[in-house]
Amino acid sequence: MIYELSNPVTKTLITHLRDQKSDAINFRHIVAELTKQLIYEALKEFPLIQKTIKTWQGEETFGAIDEKNIVVASVLRAGMPMLDSAIELLPESAAGFLAIKRDEITHKSVLYYDRLPECREKTILLVDPMLATGGSVCDAIELIKNKNPKKIIILNIIGAPEGLAKVTSVYPDIDIYISQIDEKLNSDKFIIPGLGDAGDRSYNTVN
Ligand code: PRP
Repeated sequence: MIYELSNPVTKTLITHLRDQKSDAINFRHIVAELTKQLIYEALKEFPLIQKTIKTWQGEETFGAIDEKNIVVASVLRAGMPMLDSAIELLPESAAGFLAIKRDEITHKSVLYYDRLPECREKTILLVDPMLATGGSVCDAIELIKNKNPKKIIILNIIGAPEGLAKVTSVYPDIDIYISQIDEKLNSDKFIIPGLGDAGDRSYNTVN
């Protein structure tokens, strides 16, 4: 299933992201805020475990997410600000890295590095700000699935209907939480209206 956030705060942040006036530090900051919103939404039905802690009145037991069974996997490089934000919110979760780059001529995704932790029976939050053709996310899912997770949840900031349709047709069991679904892809497979290249905007590498 695809869940698109509809909160006016989300839409305002997306407009700031599209604005070329947002420099790299602002861009990363907004991506981080949007990531937290996505996590709140994606985990709103997540079961709580009972945790015994030492409070000011002695030992007591309260509900908490079992963060140790969560892995946040980031698609480099644009996924880095999302990863940083996610592990701030879930500090006991583990982080994984998948370096996937889209070839600018063929538009196909290419994996050039991967470092995933143990994923067996864990919930994986796969973060990548952009979902264009869906190629990168599909490659990432394939790699993660080989590590036998319990569940994979995708968190995206912005995406195109074409890529979303591809991912959901190949992986109908995987949920996608996304801040904004845009109109379409152009002939260069860029999201329209989109926000440019999130990696370049985040790290000052726009030519
Ligand atoms: C962008 C983006 C996604 C991918 C989306 O990364 O961050 O990973 O493209 O495109 P797709 O859905 O068609 O695969 P890019 O290849 O520009 O690398 P970068 O993060 O290093 O900028």
